[in-house]
Amino acid sequence: MDIISRFKEKTIGVIMGGWSSEREISLISGRAIARALRGVGLKVKEIDFTPEVVSQIPELGIDVAFIILHGRPGEDGTVQGLFELYGIPYTGSGVEASAIGMDKIMTKRLFRYYRIPTPDYIYDPFHPVEKIAPGVASRLGFPIVIKPRSEGSSVGIEIVHDLDELVEKGRGLKEKFGDIFFEEYIKGMIATVGVLDEKALPILEINPKKEPFYDYKAKYTEGETEYIVPARITAKKTKKIQETALKAHRAIGCYGFSRVDLIFGDDGRPYFLEVNTLPGMTEGSNLPLEARAVGIDYQGVCLSMLSTALRWFS
Ligand SMILES: Nc1ncnc2c1ncn2[C@@H]1O[C@H](COP(=O)(O)OP(=O)(O)O)[C@@H](O)[C@H]1O
Ligand SMILES: [Mg+2]
Repeated sequence: MDIISRFKEKTIGVIMGGWSSEREISLISGRAIARALRGVGLKVKEIDFTPEVVSQIPELGIDVAFIILHGRPGEDGTVQGLFELYGIPYTGSGVEASAIGMDKIMTKRLFRYYRIPTPDYIYDPFHPVEKIAPGVASRLGFPIVIKPRSEGSSVGIEIVHDLDELVEKGRGLKEKFGDIFFEEYIKGMIATVGVLDEKALPILEINPKKEPFYDYKAKYTEGETEYIVPARITAKKTKKIQETALKAHRAIGCYGFSRVDLIFGDDGRPYFLEVNTLPGMTEGSNLPLEARAVGIDYQGVCLSMLSTALRWFS
């Protein structure tokens, strides 16, 4: 394959781990990517990205960085900026798209600007939760979803059912995560659309079996969630959702690959939630599952992602 020959002489550093709440998933993703790249004969170094490594980047002896960090730092543009300053080509989205993708408020603002449907929400950093809670409740109606502005893996997401709970959980989350917002609850099918090589993959339908929503446990416990690909959505709606997912990817300014999360509402309409610039890459993760459904195996996904680093080669 052409991509393999382009990277034959290079040492690829798989940048994994980090120190966000998603460290463990990142390590599993990173090891799987390293294995796949070695499997096609490429030279790979696994880099556990710890705070100490930050100052050692020039001594790592890598020619290309395959970044597979989730959460902050890493998915938010900071690490991308680091490699940019050192002049080391890296995979995936650049600094700006990464920063926007990590920020659910900026993402939703762009969704609105580009008419990409997203659940109604209230973001008010200026007033205490107890003050705005009644207004939030009357506009969004219960249940209400409370989310941190910049987390991943469903960390910090709470679904509340009455005003007392709204105030209590809202205050707690604000204390813990700093910046939060309130979102209209959408009843429907949880789904996600990967983008690979600037093309939308099939939609993946996600059915958590026990958990009330697709929370951390449902995401990472074997057997907790049923995945169906392609999702049980009509061909016409599927096409429209894929087009909109690609539009979301572009609205954020992503490069090459991403994964766009949505809920296909019981009202027959899609509601886009967020764009993940560094989607999970364990062999059983959502994006590889979607790729497999169109005949792209795990190795193929890794090579496609690796090829995005070519944009930094002159
Ligand atoms: N507005 C909503 N209505 C209903 N469920 C939601 C809503 N927003 C999020 N969820 C649930 O939380 C999960 C994670 O939400 P998401 O916005 O993708 O954040 P994360 O960055 O943590 O993945 C979704 O897959 C869904 O199960
Ligand atoms: Mg998500």
